[in-house]
Parts: sequence; C-alpha cells; structure tokens
Amino acid sequence: MEEILKVSNLSKGFPGVQALSNVDFTLNRGEILGLMGENGAGKSTLIKVMTGFYRRDSGDIHFDGQAVDFTSPNDAVRHGISTVYQEVNLLPQLTVAENIFIGRQPMKKRGGIDWRELNSRAENAVAKLDLDIDVTRPLNTYSVAVQQMVSIARALDISAKVLILDEPTSSLDAAEVEQLFTVMRRLKSEGISIVFITHFLDQVFAITDRITVLRSGKNAGEFTTEGLSRMDLISSMLGKEFEDLDASRWGSSLGTGEGDPLVSMNSVGKKGFIFPFDLTIRPGEVLGLAGLLGSGRTEIAQLLYGVEKPDEGVLQLNGQETALSSPRGAIDEGMGFCPEDRKEVGIIPELSVRENIILALQAKRGALRYIHRKEQEAIADKFIRALNIVTPSSDQLVKNLSGGNQQKVILARWLAAEPRLLILDEPTRGIDIGSKVEIQKLILELAKEGLALLFISSELDEVVRCSSRVAVLRDRQVIGELDGTDISESQIMKTIAETA
Ligand SMILES: Nc1ncnc2c1ncn2[C@@H]1O[C@H](COP(=O)(O)OP(=O)(O)OP(=O)(O)O)[C@@H](O)[C@H]1O
Ligand SMILES: [Mg+2]
Repeated sequence: MEEILKVSNLSKGFPGVQALSNVDFTLNRGEILGLMGENGAGKSTLIKVMTGFYRRDSGDIHFDGQAVDFTSPNDAVRHGISTVYQEVNLLPQLTVAENIFIGRQPMKKRGGIDWRELNSRAENAVAKLDLDIDVTRPLNTYSVAVQQMVSIARALDISAKVLILDEPTSSLDAAEVEQLFTVMRRLKSEGISIVFITHFLDQVFAITDRITVLRSGKNAGEFTTEGLSRMDLISSMLGKEFEDLDASRWGSSLGTGEGDPLVSMNSVGKKGFIFPFDLTIRPGEVLGLAGLLGSGRTEIAQLLYGVEKPDEGVLQLNGQETALSSPRGAIDEGMGFCPEDRKEVGIIPELSVRENIILALQAKRGALRYIHRKEQEAIADKFIRALNIVTPSSDQLVKNLSGGNQQKVILARWLAAEPRLLILDEPTRGIDIGSKVEIQKLILELAKEGLALLFISSELDEVVRCSSRVAVLRDRQVIGELDGTDISESQIMKTIAETA
C-alpha cells in the first residue's frame, strides 16, 4: 500500500481544550477511509489542521512523499487536497454555477468572467452527480440536500488526489447517498483517495475500505472494514462496551398518554403544502412521524407551530379552538420547536453556550424579566451534563464547539424553556451514537413527566424505539397510524409501500 497522506504526532490545542494529542493518521492511495468518533473527538479539527485551516502546535504532515505545511485551505487545494468542510460555505444568493466556481471563475481573454464557459462547466459538474438542476438559478431555490450536493460538485470539479468529506450525507436521502457513493467509487477507481466522516454506521460499512477512530483527541483504533463487527467499532468509539438496543421498544412503556388531547388537529391542511389530516397528541405521549424525506413530516410541524397557516381544518389546544399565526403565538401556548435546519435557524455563533441555551426561556418569560446569572449558569450546567455537551465551560462561544455539540445546545435551549409540547425535527442528526441513546432516553423521561412530544426522524429504528404512536406519511399525506405492538420498522415500511 502506498501512502498518499501521512500525519504523525500531530497535536492541536485551543484555550481550555486539547483537541488533538499526538495523533497518527495514514491515508493510502486509492482507498476510502472512514474517520469516526464521538462529537468533539477531534475529527473536524484533524481535517482542518491537515488542510491548512488551522496551524498545528506540533507534528509532521507528509503528502505524496513530501513534508508539507499548508498555509491555507487554498494552498492545500492547489496541492491536490480538496475538502468539503462540515460547515458548508456556500453563498445562497449566487447561482449554482457561481457557487461551484467561487474564487476560480473562468475568465475571458480580454477580461471579465466567461459566463458561457462557467455555466457549461457547472452543468458538467452537476451531471457527474446525476443532479438534474438548473445551474443558472440561485442556490437557495434548492433544498438543503441539493445544496450539499453542490458543495460536493464544487470539491469534485477541482482535480484532486485527495478528497475529504466531513459529514456530507447528514441531509441527504437514501437515493442521494447512493448517488454520492457511486461517484465515490468511481473516483476511487481513478486512484483518488477519500476521507469520509460520518456518524452513520451503515454508510461507513457500505463504502469504506478502512476505518480510523479518534476518541478525546487521541488515536483509538484502526480497522479494516471487511470483517469488522459493529460492536467492536462502537466500543472503540465509546471506549467501553455498548449495550445492544436494537430489539428494545421503550415507547411501549408509555402507553398512549393520559386524559384529553393537548393537541387535536381535525382535517387541517394547506393547499400545495400538505393534504388535510387528523392528529392528536396527549400529555405523556410521543407521537412519532415516519415517512421518507419530503413526505410532509416537517410540514405538519410547521402548521402546528404557526410557521405556516392552514387554509382548512380546526386546531384545538387543550380543547380550545386556536388559530396560530406565528411561532410567537405557539411559544405563548407553551410549545417548543427544535427545527431540522439548525444551522440556519438555530445557533447564534457569537453567543456563549449558556446564552444560547437560555434564549428560549428568556423569550418565554419576557425580555423584562431578566434571568439572573446564577440561575442561567445552573440551567446551562444542568443541560451540559444531561446531554453530555463537550465544552470547557458554559462561557465558551458556541461557534467553538464541534458540530454535534452545537446541535445538542439547540436541543437544550428548547428543553430549558419547559414547554408543554415539544416538537423535535431530527433531534439526533449529526449526533454520535452514545449521545443519541442519551437523547432518546431523555425523550422518554420527558414524556413520563407529562410532556407531549412530536418526534420526527428519518431513522426508523429510533422512531420505533421512542414512539408511543406513529403516524405514517407518504406524498404529503398521513396514510396510517400505528400503535402498540404494530409499531415496527417492517410495519412502517409496509404502510409506506402500500398502494392506496
Ligand atoms: N475554534 C475552536 N476553538 C475552541 N475549541 C475548539 C475549536 N474548534 C474545535 N474546538 C474543540 O475541539 C474539540 C474537537 O472538536 P471537533 O470539531 O474536531 O470535533 P468532531 O470530532 O468533528 O465532532 P462532531 O462529530 O460533533 O463534528 C471539541 O472539544 C471542540 O469544542
Ligand atoms: Mg466535526
């Protein structure tokens, strides 16, 4: 095996955090390497140090046989290492084509951007990913998933020897992941080496040749994927044995809530958005929404939370007919909504972990009733512990947390606001397997304390595990409801697949 990228003894510290300690890392020519580890383990930092985004404190980096010291990500790109960072840096107002060529637009001989060349090269780049989109339209007219694919198209268009993808699949659906894998396999056959970071175990087993694991900034294991057991991989990531949860269905212990519905939606619908549906949620139950991406799950949450207004049907809260016309109204009614797209609507990077957590509670109490510092700290510390948020203190700026830990902060914000009804849209996406289980347990506990929860997730196993009832959606329609022993992955799939 020929090494293309080799890192030895690499260390990198931030104030209060030793992100990497003496890490060794090897990438061979023409292989797909999985880089795994819990939130905050140091994966993104390793990538950023290797590609000149951060300066290292110590250690050596060899690329293609030469000692290298990239001064910036562009420097790394020029040498042949192309990276899609976890925080996608695209410009939503520019067109797809402009985004693919930011900073390296083809120019005409007599000056000025060669738009025809730019657009036709962009068309080629997206076609390679089997994306059927108009490259002359602004990027923000497309879904998050398409935007993610565009950032990959951008990286692929740069002729690279090494391609690094930091959690590229977190907002892709199954078909899009398969498209990406097809492209990755093709690149591999052309001799390109790929580093693939993900929290999805199925994906890492499907596509990688080898797996390197980091834990708390140190090497924790190197494996050949073939023949590796899931339990061994998970144990190496967590540093301890992991109880197998596959068979358990915790939600069944909840029953279907108590007393009268907190929420009841009768024939609620909106033209072109979602077909009319009926749903109820009682205190103490978790209503799971299952369905493919785009099936209408998030749309239901948006109608309930007042983000969108229904044009028919009746919404009752606690038996009272209510018309919610804004999230503000929903918050006043005691609702919380942890949205799917947390980067866009969630995190306030320049505020501390504590300030981010306290935000929704402060809004609920009203700006004039200031929450005292001591109370703020107590609340923040409680959730840092409960959700296992990796941070040196609650005063750390949120932008300095790892991606998964930022998501936990948003979840903490809505839990701290003590809602009566909590809507969770993909709450465990991008979160490592250990914390995932912690969050699932917390959802169950909250329900036991009498909270009503609407739980949306693309991962069927966690819908099955946590829900007391499951509404199944397809093509923007609620097509069935399951409860009790009927709740299983196969029953949900069957319901989705059944023809009307
Ligand atoms: N700019 C920074 N300033 C301070 N601390 C940082 C900074 N960047 C990262 N860290 C810290 O370094 C540690 C490693 O973070 P990193 O982003 O590499 O984790 P990760 O493995 O990519 O996690 P995730 O799966 O959540 O994306 C974390 O404790 C994080 O808070
Ligand atoms: Mg990361």
